Amino acid sequence: MITKNIQLAADKLKDGEILAIPTETVYGLAANAYSEDAVKKIFDLKNRPNNNPLIVHIKSYDFLQNVALDIPDAAIKLAREFWPGPLTLVLKKQAHIPDLVTAAKETVAVRMPNHPMSIALLEKLDFPIAAPSANPFGSISPTSAEHVYHYFKDNLDLILDGGHCEKGIESTIIGFQNNEAILYRHGSISVEEIERVIGKIKIMTKNETAPEAPGMLSKHYAPSTKIFLSDDIHELIKKHSGKKIGLLSFDKQIIGVDILHQEILSSTSSLEQAAYNLYSALHRLDSYNLEVILAERLPNVGLGKTINDRLERATK
Ligand code: TXA
Ligand code: MG
Repeated sequence: MITKNIQLAADKLKDGEILAIPTETVYGLAANAYSEDAVKKIFDLKNRPNNNPLIVHIKSYDFLQNVALDIPDAAIKLAREFWPGPLTLVLKKQAHIPDLVTAAKETVAVRMPNHPMSIALLEKLDFPIAAPSANPFGSISPTSAEHVYHYFKDNLDLILDGGHCEKGIESTIIGFQNNEAILYRHGSISVEEIERVIGKIKIMTKNETAPEAPGMLSKHYAPSTKIFLSDDIHELIKKHSGKKIGLLSFDKQIIGVDILHQEILSSTSSLEQAAYNLYSALHRLDSYNLEVILAERLPNVGLGKTINDRLERATK
């Protein structure tokens, strides 16, 4: 059932059940983060490997001490600047956080979401919500209740409908090693914005990513249609001529070539708008029975880096 009834959602979580919830980034599959039994239902439904930890969503800055300890100064600065919002901090965990949530790591990923419905829901609960994105493992994240329904149909009882997610792309994940901040995942807050608050940070390269954050597999965020990415979209089109082509471009319509469907992410060249539209565009392109999706790389600044990261992973 798709509903806007927050009380119903709260009761379901208190009963140890799972449901989909809106956040400002993407929809999440939610469970009581303190209940290993409830969290297991998320892993089963998503078909997610157990070594891939979840993000714990909290209702207030004060609640942070219930899930994490030894919080570095830089983390406090970032939380004060960006919470509620699309920033996830990987911190030393409190012992009572179940191993299944953190993949038995010493750390826990935490964020305070900024969506009126998820905030109202958390306020009705005395436990935090563990929630990965509400999609089967490896596929494109959902940015609307309809996307979630399309994935899980009647295998998921309840979807809390909060409209299209305002940001449209996942949170930025920052971890700490020897008190040094490290970017684990590009996200809705650009590296430039993070660095404005705490100075230069280390960017984890793809190879380094694996041991720290097993979920950031190189193949991820992928449509089922094969996708190719290039700086030169015309060259790509030439290479695939004769095929049933769908096109994903940043800001310009490509004319005079044989394209079945084209998605333009932002006709005003706004990276924010492109991020908002990215997953919806990929979901649509994936539904058209195309042979290939050809995507244009975006300018590699700000949110362009996040979008390029997702497109690169989708091509693997
Ligand atoms: O915007 C978001 O972050 C959304 C919404 C629902 O909050 N959630 C989301 O969750 O994208 P998920 O599960 O799709 O991605 C969480 C990422 C995974 O790549 C996981 O490996 C990483 O967070 N992660 C979780 N706990 C971690 C930890 N203790 N150390 C390092 N990485 C961690
Ligand atoms: Mg995900």
